[in-house]
Amino acid sequence: MVEETEGPVAHDDRAPQPFNAEQPNSARVYDYLLGGKDNQETDREVGNEMLSQAPELKSLVWFVRGFMLKAVQMATDAGIRQFIDLGSGIPTSPNVHEAARETQPSARVVYVDYDPVVYTHCDALLTKPHGVTALLGDIRRPDEILDQLKNQALIDFAEPVAITMLGVLHYVMDDEHPADIIAAFRDQMAPGSYLAITHGSLDSSPEILKVLEATRGSSAQVTFRPPAQTESFLAGFEVLEPGVVPVQQWLRPDLPETRMIMDAAICRKP
Ligand SMILES: C[S@@+](CC[C@H](N)C(=O)[O-])C[C@H]1O[C@@H](n2cnc3c(N)ncnc32)[C@H](O)[C@@H]1O
Repeated sequence: MVEETEGPVAHDDRAPQPFNAEQPNSARVYDYLLGGKDNQETDREVGNEMLSQAPELKSLVWFVRGFMLKAVQMATDAGIRQFIDLGSGIPTSPNVHEAARETQPSARVVYVDYDPVVYTHCDALLTKPHGVTALLGDIRRPDEILDQLKNQALIDFAEPVAITMLGVLHYVMDDEHPADIIAAFRDQMAPGSYLAITHGSLDSSPEILKVLEATRGSSAQVTFRPPAQTESFLAGFEVLEPGVVPVQQWLRPDLPETRMIMDAAICRKP
């Protein structure tokens, strides 16, 4: 049951179980769309239903990956050497640390996800290199994540940091206060820090929005939002051009539109 609380919430509803093959799971559905093998029949059913409405989703998930590469590149070009990937998902190369270390070989990267299965995968597959860490954490409890980052000295908040929140905020319902979650991280970020987000758009086609209804009540439940509402979450940041726009527009002008629209933004803390 969802409790009404003020500020970022502290309730556990819809959080993934250690492993439940019967319930669609956001990380596993996404893994299926990316062509991965870490998914179950129930995830493939949701994924196939989406793909039957919009086969171009297979491309969209890779556009988001291209956007991650671009955001990380912009941050490393600005001299940033520490990264936090919130809602990191089941590892799929290229991952954030691979992108960051192309130009900043000593970059520190922390992967955070609230799904114990995702955490186990990240810990096993990504954290071999020194300076790459996986944490179990729920963005709906930002203070707990921040405490872990500080107490384990994983991130130095006196220095700029880049935070990526790709495809995760739309799993946070309105009564879980997504703007307050971003604000909690923003308030700790040094000037010159970067934030990159992608967020499911309410401008997506009605067929797509209808398919997403099938996720209601599970950990894969989403709330797609109008781009203006997504932009309102970025208060206190300078939103870089071209602004909060479909992810394709951050990449190349010739990429096809998709019926599922992922709005994307990169912003900088002044
Ligand atoms: C659609 S996947 C995106 C994965 C990755 N960011 C990417 O772009 O490829 C969403 C991820 O967010 C995670 N997630 C959803 N809600 C979360 C929350 N409240 N706290 C932390 N992680 C969350 C899910 O477990 C899943 O791994």
